[in-house]
Amino acid sequence: MRKARILGGVIVAALGAYGLTVYAQDKHPSDEFIQYCAKCHGEDGKAQTARGKQLKARDFTDQEFQSDESDADLIESVTKGKDDMPPFGKKLSKEQIESLVKNDVRGFAKKK
Ligand code: HEC
Repeated sequence: MRKARILGGVIVAALGAYGLTVYAQDKHPSDEFIQYCAKCHGEDGKAQTARGKQLKARDFTDQEFQSDESDADLIESVTKGKDDMPPFGKKLSKEQIESLVKNDVRGFAKKK
């Protein structure tokens, strides 16, 4: 009986870990956004942090901003920097930057 309970516990734990992994992949904003970008752009993308206000970072929930800029433009800005926006081309991979723009930055627009 004890073995069965331990096994049950292991299965529950494994399912839990799997669920968490799937959840983390779909999470918005992503851990990378929180780690590298939220200081200025804020976890809500509105740039209402102290640094964001000081540097006048972009509000990613602004529809005009979202429709004015192409993915390629934004990827270039994140890679090479733009005015007070620091370049991330050396810190992050191309795939990471692409994901940050397509999932994180664009993700803020979809929410109404
Ligand atoms: C030190 C503060 C700071 C950090 C950290 C930061 N940004 Fe920015 N970001 C800015 C500022 C300031 C601007 C406005 C630049 C401008 O419009 O000239 C900006 C603008 C942008 C833009 C718009 C660029 C454009 O072409 O209009 C994007 C996209 C962006 N940031 C994404 C990110 C991502 C993704 C990260 C994390 C990898 C990040 N930023 C981290 C300050 C920051």
